[in-house]
Amino acid sequence: MKNIFVIGAGQMGAGIAQVFASHNFSVKLFDVNEEALKKGIEGIYKRLDRAVEKERMTKEGAEQAKAHLETASSMEDAAHCDFAIEAVVERMDVKEKVFRQLDDIMPDHAILATNTSSLPITDVAAVTNRPSQVIGMHFMNPVPVMKLVEIIRAIQTSDETYERVEKLAEQLAKTPVEVNDYPGFVSNRVLMPMINEAVFTVYEGVASKEDVDTVMKLGMNHPMGPLQLADFIGLDTCLSIMEILYDGFGDSKYRPCPLLKKYVAAGWLGKKSGRGFYVYE
Ligand code: NAI
Repeated sequence: MKNIFVIGAGQMGAGIAQVFASHNFSVKLFDVNEEALKKGIEGIYKRLDRAVEKERMTKEGAEQAKAHLETASSMEDAAHCDFAIEAVVERMDVKEKVFRQLDDIMPDHAILATNTSSLPITDVAAVTNRPSQVIGMHFMNPVPVMKLVEIIRAIQTSDETYERVEKLAEQLAKTPVEVNDYPGFVSNRVLMPMINEAVFTVYEGVASKEDVDTVMKLGMNHPMGPLQLADFIGLDTCLSIMEILYDGFGDSKYRPCPLLKKYVAAGWLGKKSGRGFYVYE
């Protein structure tokens, strides 16, 4: 697999394109929004230049990565690619449309991956005529920095597809883990209930938000407290993942905290909206 098609040039898609291009893959990056595509490419160039300044990358390496990166003017440009990874908005209807298009356009041998953090890979695979070649490849944010890739097998994913994607992750110098397709995979199934429980401790007046974060930082050696982390992720994203866990397992242990719901209803979504559990300038 040499030619990579990345769909969505936002936070994740641009990071994914950067990592592939930095490891000598030929990358085509596509976004429906031209402005987003331009911004995505500019962000990649800026991060590569910064990596050179900080001596984390050679100048030649950065120039090579830039040379390996192209923008695509339409989805049709996927026709000569071996692997596609989708990082568009977290909406099933949008993802299904993208996967139907990729399935029509791409050669038979191509593997189609999604970077979704919460939608079922099995359902995405089911809209294509090649479900055994569909898989989840869940990168962490920021992609160039974080080592982990959760590789999620839909129920239809073949062993061959899994093995090829595992090898691909290793070629990107990432550490792959194998996960089956159940709500929240492993990352969000473990992380989000912890965040939700932290919100419950504030809601019930067990401790202040600052103290909850201090307990987890100094007591558990977490680099960031769960409430601050929730603000960074976005409280709307946290709520939507809790709802997916609750809905998917039908277990009351996943019920979202009423305080989390109230913050989201108020538009207090965390860092991106200027206010969440904390206030941001
Ligand atoms: P984002 O909002 O930064 O970027 C999404 C991009 O997709 C936008 O530029 C938008 O114009 C584009 N887009 C929308 N519909 C499209 C279409 N039909 N074809 C092509 N491009 C289209 O979103 P972000 O944060 O990069 O998330 C993307 C995916 O990655 C989501 O599925 C999300 O769940 C997942 N993810 C996000 C993480 C995060 O920390 N932000 C972490 C891991 C996964």
